Amino acid sequence: MKIITSVKQMQKSSLALRRKGKLIGLVPTMGALHEGHLSLVRMARKKSDVVVVSIFVNPTQFGPGEDFQKYPRVFPQDKKLLQKEKCDIIFYPSAKQIYPENYLTFVDVEDITTRLEGASRPGHFRGVATIVAKLFNIVQPDLAFFGQKDAQQVVVVKKMVSDLNFPVKIIVCPTVRDQKGLALSSRNSYLSPDEKCQALCLYEALEKARDLIQLGQTNPQVVISSMQTVIQKSPLAEIDYVAITDTKRLLPVDKIRGDVLISLAVRVGNTRLIDNICVRANKKIQEIRC
Ligand code: PAJ
Repeated sequence: MKIITSVKQMQKSSLALRRKGKLIGLVPTMGALHEGHLSLVRMARKKSDVVVVSIFVNPTQFGPGEDFQKYPRVFPQDKKLLQKEKCDIIFYPSAKQIYPENYLTFVDVEDITTRLEGASRPGHFRGVATIVAKLFNIVQPDLAFFGQKDAQQVVVVKKMVSDLNFPVKIIVCPTVRDQKGLALSSRNSYLSPDEKCQALCLYEALEKARDLIQLGQTNPQVVISSMQTVIQKSPLAEIDYVAITDTKRLLPVDKIRGDVLISLAVRVGNTRLIDNICVRANKKIQEIRC
């Protein structure tokens, strides 16, 4: 496994691999890897000749007062995990490599970034779209792997790829959860044992929604209210949003039918957690990916 820290070197290596006809799969991450990330790496391993995992805690996607400083950075541990997964290259650039002095160019996907996460975290998706576009230009992957866990990120990245004609196929992998249903996240490490227990309310709320829709409920307000009631049973949980939207424009739906995204953000203590399920609500409900 190679570790590449320079942008030029990474571009050179990718170009050489592409000339040899190798299919490059990229898994973009911010490190502090867990089974969720590793599921993406395994999928990339299955589908590509060369697996590149990028590890970069991207400063431009964190807002003022967010957790950029305290975000976990555990490179030696990440390296061991990636070695086990037979990753070929870790791209591990410094902030200076990615954003040299006088850096001025950003990618802004409009409209869909103003809702849900975008409403609570202004500028977040501008940072995400910019770093993902840069990683695509640096690593030049054929395939890029993203988790359903960050559903809006998937929708934004897919829109950017389509609008800017990136020759990259986006592959979306299912959300990995712990035994109790809590979606794995690097931010779970901020939770105390009591908070971790109460954080289960996100999954319970999603299950409640799924059950109601399964039983034929089509009124989003009814489903959202029941989800809020589930969350309010956890005293440490404070709702940021609970939403039922379509899967492309991310606008609230007035009736639950066809493909819908049920997403929520909840603060548990000081930690902001997100989760979602995407369902196809026809006669029978079916879980899908964005
Ligand atoms: P990060 O939070 O490190 O996540 C990297 C990838 O892992 C994302 O595609 C995310 O959706 C996926 N992921 C995280 N938890 C998951 C889980 N429990 N199950 C399945 N997949 C999971 O997302 C980012 O980094 C950044 O925004 C990034 C795309 C790297 C740009 O900086």
